Amino acid sequence: MRKYSAKAPPIKTQGIKTKLVPLIWESASSWSGRGRWIEPFLGSGAVLFNLSPQRALAGDTNEHVIRLYSDIQRGRITAEKTRVYLDKEAEFLRRDGAEHYYRVRARFNEQHEPLDFLFLNRSCFNGLMRFNGKGGFNTPFCRKPERFRQSYITRICNQVGWTAQTMAGKDWEFVCADWRTVLKCASSADIVYADPPYAGRFTDYFNKWTDTDSTDLELFLKGLPCPFLYSMWAENKYRRNDNLYESFDGYDIRTHEHFYHLGSTESLRNKMTEALVVG
Ligand SMILES: C[S@@+](CC[C@H](N)C(=O)[O-])C[C@H]1O[C@@H](n2cnc3c(N)ncnc32)[C@H](O)[C@@H]1O
Repeated sequence: MRKYSAKAPPIKTQGIKTKLVPLIWESASSWSGRGRWIEPFLGSGAVLFNLSPQRALAGDTNEHVIRLYSDIQRGRITAEKTRVYLDKEAEFLRRDGAEHYYRVRARFNEQHEPLDFLFLNRSCFNGLMRFNGKGGFNTPFCRKPERFRQSYITRICNQVGWTAQTMAGKDWEFVCADWRTVLKCASSADIVYADPPYAGRFTDYFNKWTDTDSTDLELFLKGLPCPFLYSMWAENKYRRNDNLYESFDGYDIRTHEHFYHLGSTESLRNKMTEALVVG
C-alpha cells in the first residue's frame, strides 16, 4: 500500500474523511497488506482512493456511488467522456439556470445515470446531497448558473481521471450491499475500515442510523477475524461520546480535531473531535 497526500475524489458526501486520511494511514501501518482493504461504508471513496491498496472490497447501500465507481473502473466513464458531458450540460445550465438543474434531477431520478449523479452532486445546494423517502435525489439547486466554469470542469475531470488511474491494474470489487453482507467476507489477512453514518445526525434514505445499528456494528467489529479501524465522533462543543469510550474500553482510540463551519463568521466555528478505534 502506498501513501498519497490526500486528494479529493470526484464526489462529495456527508462525513467525507479526506482530513483523516493521514491518521487512518498511520493506524493501518501494522497491516501486512496481503489481504483486502474492506470498506463497507465507502461514501465518497476518499479513504480508499487515497490509501490505494492492491486489493479491496468496497460497499455502500448508496447504489449511485457504487455505480459511478464501477463505471469508472470498467472504463464506461472516463475523464474525456466526463468533459464532453459536462461541457454540454454546463452550456444548458448557463442558458436555462435552475430549470436545467431540475430537468437533470428529474432525469436522474428516472434513469439513475452516473454522470447525472455527478452533475447534481457538484451543483446542488451547499454540496449536501439528500435523498427523499423513496430514494429520489431532492437537494435544490445551488443557484449558480455559472457553476460549471472551465476550471471547475477540469478539476472534476482530473478527479475522475485520478480515480481511474488509481484503480487500474488493481483487484478492487465494488458492491451495493448492507455492511453485514460485506463484513461477512472478511478473513484474517484483511483489514476493515468502518465509517458508518453517525447516529442522531444527518438522516436521509441512505443514512438511517440508530444507536442499535451502532451497537450491532461495534459487536460485529470486535468479532472480526482481522484488524479493524472504526471512525466515530468522539466529542463536540456540547458533549463527549461516552458510549464509544465504554464500548471500546481498553482499545487504542486515536483522535483528530477539526473545525467545521456553521456560518460565515469566526464565532460560528465549532470544534469536533473524531475518534479512530484501532482494533
Ligand atoms: C459517513 S459516510 C462514509 C464517508 C466516507 N468514509 C468518506 O470519506 O466519504 C457513511 C456511508 O454509509 C452508507 N451507509 C448507510 N447505511 C449503510 C448500511 N446499512 N450499509 C452500508 N452502507 C451504509 C451511506 O450511504 C454513506 O455513504
